[in-house]
Amino acid sequence: MRLNIACIEGDGIGPEIVTEARKVLDKVAYVYGHEITYTNILMGGASIDVHGVPLTEDAVTAAKAADAVLMGSIGGDTTTSPWYKLPPNLRPEAGLLAIRKALNLFANLRPAVLYDELADACPLKKEISSAGFDMMIMRELTGGLYFGERHTTEENGIRKAVDTLTYDENEIRRIAIKGFEIAMKRKKKVTSVDKANVLDSSRLWRKVVEEVAADYPEVTLEHMLVDNCAMQLVKNPAQFDVILTENMFGDILSDEASMVTGSIGMLASASLNDTKFGLYEPSHGSAPDIAGKGIANPIATILSAAMMLRFSFDLDKEADAVECAVKNVLKKGYRTIDIMSQGCTQVGCKEMGDLLADEIN
Ligand code: IPM
Ligand code: MG
Repeated sequence: MRLNIACIEGDGIGPEIVTEARKVLDKVAYVYGHEITYTNILMGGASIDVHGVPLTEDAVTAAKAADAVLMGSIGGDTTTSPWYKLPPNLRPEAGLLAIRKALNLFANLRPAVLYDELADACPLKKEISSAGFDMMIMRELTGGLYFGERHTTEENGIRKAVDTLTYDENEIRRIAIKGFEIAMKRKKKVTSVDKANVLDSSRLWRKVVEEVAADYPEVTLEHMLVDNCAMQLVKNPAQFDVILTENMFGDILSDEASMVTGSIGMLASASLNDTKFGLYEPSHGSAPDIAGKGIANPIATILSAAMMLRFSFDLDKEADAVECAVKNVLKKGYRTIDIMSQGCTQVGCKEMGDLLADEIN
């Protein structure tokens, strides 16, 4: 198969981790007889430095021409980087939001899994973590507060800022359908998270999710208020299968879910539209403090590449091989510094990529 992949290395540790993900993809292509072409695209700070803007029209065109996009991470240190002296719409993050919108990537899948091998890194008490957990956060990604009308004004010397949270039923329905479809392939449970005791947008969310649920009688649906969900994630994470939620809640809950795995450097993500196209990136940020030191953990990006093989190319066997390689390398005791524990062998970003590529044969 011919795989036409656009790569956004981005900023901070982005280039290092994307290099290792490409190494693993190249090995997959070699072993399974595929042919990959990569096109590099600038986004975030890297694009600001060259073009003065975080995302150009040409970059969007190049992304659209690919079958899928593999991304590292974007952004810098918000207190010291000159990028954050620019107006908000020209900062690195604006490029990420713009590409999500331009490519219609409304469904963001963020798996949070407790790996047996890394159970010690889980910050929860043993009696909670021993039940294990494996959940998929389905976050709506192109609506809500992130894309609503916003402005800052000053009236009679009083500064005022406005952000608006809007959803229409079609935006809710399409992410809900994705959520139920994914649940059908998992443990068939959807927890829809909202703030229906306060917000109109949440009350509509609940109604539409219930309408969609009627088409999936095998799936158990429950509703949970977002504040309760934040608590349940640390109290009893094993109860969750698919968490379905709007953009802002999903942003916050996915960070929390990743933290309870104890290994944010391990968590992949996929952002999908209603075709096979997707943008795949680690759930973590660009970690400017460790950029260029060769110590970043490339596993989240490599697992994101596995999600790409599965969702955009239907290459399940190849995706399994990558995920299996990760488990094996962990089992052999190799760790990057962020997941290091006693008795294990510490390796850098490049060595981890080499070890994973070697596992695929
Ligand atoms: C994420 C990030 C982004 C978001 C930022 C960088 C704009 O936190 O992907 O979760 O809020 O969506
Ligand atoms: Mg976030």
